[in-house]
Amino acid sequence: MTAPRTHKITLIPGDGIGPEVTRAVVRILEATGVKFEWERFAAGAEAFEIHGEYIPAALCESIERNRIALKGPVGTPIGGGFKSINVTLRKKFDLFANFRPIKNLPGLDTKFPNLDLIIVRENTEGEYVGIEHEIIPGVVESIKVITEKGSTRIAKFAFEYARKHGRKKIHSIHKANIMKLSDGLFLECARRVSEGFPEIVYGEHIIDNTCMQMVMNPWQYDTLLLENLYGDIVSDLCAGLVGGLGLVPGANIGLECAIFEAVHGSAPDIAGKDVANPTALLQSAVLMLRHIDEQAAADRVQTAIETVYGERKTLTRDVGGKAGTTEFADAIIAALPPA
Ligand code: NAI
Repeated sequence: MTAPRTHKITLIPGDGIGPEVTRAVVRILEATGVKFEWERFAAGAEAFEIHGEYIPAALCESIERNRIALKGPVGTPIGGGFKSINVTLRKKFDLFANFRPIKNLPGLDTKFPNLDLIIVRENTEGEYVGIEHEIIPGVVESIKVITEKGSTRIAKFAFEYARKHGRKKIHSIHKANIMKLSDGLFLECARRVSEGFPEIVYGEHIIDNTCMQMVMNPWQYDTLLLENLYGDIVSDLCAGLVGGLGLVPGANIGLECAIFEAVHGSAPDIAGKDVANPTALLQSAVLMLRHIDEQAAADRVQTAIETVYGERKTLTRDVGGKAGTTEFADAIIAALPPA
């Protein structure tokens, strides 16, 4: 028998609730018996205090070497201060696809049961290129960049995922009635790619209508293809449909590397109190387990999540329970099916 493989993973606990939820998730992952070697790094304000850099060079080298990172949220100052660490890492490693599955968990009474949506968000372009300047006092310009290359590759990612996983429909979400050139190009690329996937029904909805449709009849959607800013907003909206930001996972995927992280931020309002819900990062870790081909462990963790939610005895307070982060993690470990 060959010895089990050890996976070297770059671990960024992040700040706010990041260290608490990361600690819980690492304990659960280790309880599966899969062998990990974690390379831990600070990022953002904490890294600056220690290393004088917001993203230490050693962190980037670790991601380049390991090609996989698990990341907690990192706070970004509003209005001024340093650039978003999340956006910077996505750009640096060209993690062009932000993949966010939205699914109900058992035991949660939400207004929208039986949802099963996939959000594919372009992750490197749009308003997030960060090109802003003051033209004259009182007038600033922020530039949105959409390229044929970026739009085509994210559309291909969405259609290839849909084909591989038997998804039936893709909607491109846009505002091409107003942003005729930029969103127009995004749509043109998606339409062209869609021609190679005749088995997948292709549709287009305007972003404001989409938000209304989402809270009236979200079941009409299957897979959504969005540029960066729309994807950011619609992901939070969809997280709300299935019980909140504490639940939904995410992955940032490029050709060389992938960073797995929850949709939520550092939640400074609840940080340090052992009340944060680690499910979102845990479900991101399940995506990571699938990515590194540890399917059995991924299935076991997913089953444990569904058992604990189904029983409703040990849930965190954001989903109506009383358990703390640590107690919830203990319950998941206890519910892991045997290997
Ligand atoms: P947030 O996602 O941190 O929090 C929004 C609300 O959801 C808060 O009430 C919070 O308590 C709750 N919440 C979030 N995650 C939760 C969890 N796991 N369990 C229970 N409740 C949870 O969004 P906010 O407040 O807008 O941003 C805070 C900071 O996070 C900002 O500095 C922002 O830039 C950063 N951020 C970082 C992200 C990342 O690292 N990927 C993503 C989004 C925001």
